[in-house]
Amino acid sequence: SAAEKGGYDYFMLKEIAEQPKAVADTLLGRIDASGSLTLDEVRIPPGVLREVDKVVIVACGTAFHAGLIAKYAIEHWTRIPCEVELASEFRYRDPILDPQTLVIAISQSGETMDTLMALRHAREQGSKVLAICNTNGSTIPRESDAVLYTHAGPEVAVASTKAFLTQLVACYLVALYLGQVRGTKWGDEIRDVIRDLSHISGAVERVLETMEPVRELARTLADKKTVLFLGRHVGYPVALEGALKLKELAYMHAEGFAAGELKHGPIALIEEDLPVVVVVPSPRGRSVIHDKIVSNIQEIRARGARTIVIAEEGDEAVVPYADHLVRIPATPTLLQPLVATVPLQVFACELATARGNEVDQPRNLAKSVTVE
Ligand code: AGP
Repeated sequence: SAAEKGGYDYFMLKEIAEQPKAVADTLLGRIDASGSLTLDEVRIPPGVLREVDKVVIVACGTAFHAGLIAKYAIEHWTRIPCEVELASEFRYRDPILDPQTLVIAISQSGETMDTLMALRHAREQGSKVLAICNTNGSTIPRESDAVLYTHAGPEVAVASTKAFLTQLVACYLVALYLGQVRGTKWGDEIRDVIRDLSHISGAVERVLETMEPVRELARTLADKKTVLFLGRHVGYPVALEGALKLKELAYMHAEGFAAGELKHGPIALIEEDLPVVVVVPSPRGRSVIHDKIVSNIQEIRARGARTIVIAEEGDEAVVPYADHLVRIPATPTLLQPLVATVPLQVFACELATARGNEVDQPRNLAKSVTVE
């Protein structure tokens, strides 16, 4: 009913709007007054976490994209090697696991069969499994050694939005916590990022306030066949997520690429008026990759692409090459997906509406996939 949707036309719109609160709720009570993380609920003793020599993340779909982003954070802040794998592939390839491997299973529903089978397999090999999950008491957390719940609240729309943002928050918390427990040379940076994270829901709110031009743009693209998404570093999984949202909701062909791969093949796809969304990393952080992405935008535009550029406020280098410019607030490099994903959700939702698709219940899809 309309009341359940809180006055919005679709649950998806309501859930997109709830993201600042979902992010804040997922942080609530997990950062103490001194700015340290208190994840007591992760009932894996610090001694065991200090011995971990490999992290393996398993998940499906959007949760898998959260895992891809987590890898950048975990390896940077903890120096522990981290692999991320689609749960459906992991189980059947005889993965190398042992008691020093920490497996992280990410799932909104906690009932995804592929992810459940992957975690069972990991536990059989003696690995500890930490679930990141949004559904209290569901099967995946019940079968795991520990759980860090995301507090997105119930997600009804099939396309995941607020659950994804809270999965990212949970992944950052785990990465920072592992860094804190193990004590790395990044101690000061970890403290700074915990502080930035505690303010990040305001940045998500600011993005939501500026989405009207994105909706307008989406409506003008309703008759397109293909949209490409490019990103680099943590912007690469954001590009994959933007493409997945568009497939699910708009039933359009969409693909995400690592921007650095462009010249190894995908640039051949660029043609006159093809919409290409580019997620631009902060010019302050790794300025080398920022500059490389700016030249990618220049290259594809020279070949006629219609460039839709998502870039940090104050990033002037992109302006000459952006047919459409979407501004996002400045954040630490690794946290950018929390703000960069939001315009892509809005974009896909609006395109679905413009094409007359059922936003909350896309064809052929189920909210949780309980078969392998
Ligand atoms: C996201 O928009 C999708 N509907 C889908 O990819 C989903 O993220 C995936 O099936 C995993 O679900 P889970 O998080 O409940 O395990």
